[in-house]
Amino acid sequence: MEIIILSVLYLLHVGFVSCGSGTTGYKLLNFAIPDARLLKKSLRFDEDIYLNFTELAHKYKYSTEEHHVATDDGYILTVFRILPKCRNITGYPIILLHGIFDSSDVFILAGPQNGLGYVLTDNCYDVWAANHRGNVYSRKHVALDPNKDSEYWNYSFDEHGVYDLPAVIDYVMNSTGLPKVNYIGHSQGTTDFFTMASLKPDYNAKIQLSVHLAPVVFWKNFGIPVLKFLAPSVNSLKDALDKAGLSEVLAKHQLAHVFMEYSCRFVPNEICGTGLYITTGYKSGTISSRTLSAAGGHLFSGTSTKSLAHLGQLITSQKFQRFDEGTSGNIQRYGTRLPPEYDLSKVTSPVLLMTAQNDYLSPLEDVKELASKLPNLVENVIIPNPTWSHNNHLWGKDVWKFELPKILEYIKYYNS
Ligand SMILES: *[C@@H]1O[C@H](CO)[C@@H](O)[C@H](O)[C@H]1NC(C)=O
Ligand SMILES: *[C@@H]1O[C@H](CO)[C@@H](O)[C@H](O)[C@H]1NC(C)=O
Ligand SMILES: *[C@@H]1O[C@H](CO)[C@@H](O)[C@H](O)[C@H]1NC(C)=O
Ligand SMILES: *[C@@H]1O[C@H](CO)[C@@H](O)[C@H](O)[C@H]1NC(C)=O
Repeated sequence: MEIIILSVLYLLHVGFVSCGSGTTGYKLLNFAIPDARLLKKSLRFDEDIYLNFTELAHKYKYSTEEHHVATDDGYILTVFRILPKCRNITGYPIILLHGIFDSSDVFILAGPQNGLGYVLTDNCYDVWAANHRGNVYSRKHVALDPNKDSEYWNYSFDEHGVYDLPAVIDYVMNSTGLPKVNYIGHSQGTTDFFTMASLKPDYNAKIQLSVHLAPVVFWKNFGIPVLKFLAPSVNSLKDALDKAGLSEVLAKHQLAHVFMEYSCRFVPNEICGTGLYITTGYKSGTISSRTLSAAGGHLFSGTSTKSLAHLGQLITSQKFQRFDEGTSGNIQRYGTRLPPEYDLSKVTSPVLLMTAQNDYLSPLEDVKELASKLPNLVENVIIPNPTWSHNNHLWGKDVWKFELPKILEYIKYYNS
């Protein structure tokens, strides 16, 4: 019954949008969907699918603060702080940063037992979950309008590393009055960190320990043939989308997201599980249906075409390098004809890597190469479970068996 109602609404919606706009299919994807919360409630959706960060945390009895941090180039980022319940806050604050297409929500949607954000808070750490520029919580700027100014979307992970992360680190240090922070990133959140620590090496002195879940730096062995095939065309795809005024991709208000939310609600293991398998190597059953369903409602929080193009360039060039703006653009931006590589020997702060054995996006060989280039490697922990892939680090049923104790142990060691 629910499926029928939703399908009808969905078709009506599609029909309405295509007639109403009367232009391309691209416009269709870009149409803003209202948050049909009443409908979802009446259809008895699990709330965790649609509640936002603050609402989720409050539901599970955690207090939060919402902070707004301005970057040097005018973007306004939202950072959620989860307030420790302990009086004796331990060590330095911990900044969390999500991956591409994600948001701060990934760190709590596994619920109070397994969600890393909650677990750290329960252990008396001061947790700050950041959102990079352009996603659903950080779609703001002091001067640019993300809906009108294509300049707003002129960024990739390079800008997350050069502007977003330093702004958040300085803000947290200033707010807490402490001289250092810890950092935990997932997926592109790790790329962002290595970008910052190599291009702004002064920031290494502000990092007590950084932890990298599913580190992504080199793209030499990743296991998605389709992506390999598409990578060389990503630059032209970006140009085409930019020309059509569609430099924002897979945003929360766009149709693709609504599809995820609805389909994952009804057939989590079939549709959402398969999507996750194709893109990350996910093995069915290793994430609970409830978490997978909640994740489906939060995945796709928006990014820029340039972010995708930059990944495509890493795949084609087989190098960890800055964005290729074309010969004249490169000369203007970097003073060289080719984009410079990020110098990992400058990442002098302590780095802990957490690597899964079946992760298509973060294969063992590529992480090994990264580990060999880091001057201050704490350990490259290979999770001793062959079924683990990219998102098990965040949502796996067995995080308490394979991951959380290790993270807590190292954080404690570096913060006491
Ligand atoms: C979360 O949802 C509540 C209720 O709709 C809303 O008041 C609040 O502004 C939202 N917070 C964010 C950061 O979007
Ligand atoms: C902080 O207090 C909690 C109880 O609120 C206690 O369990 C924990 O061991 C204390 N931590 C430290 C580092 O003193
Ligand atoms: C640092 O924090 C103080 C209050 O604690 C605030 O007045 C000041 O504007 C902050 N500075 C920056 C650069 O954020
Ligand atoms: C995007 O930003 C980069 C770096 O600031 C700059 O070199 C480039 O010219 C910009 N591109 C466009 C299309 O504005």
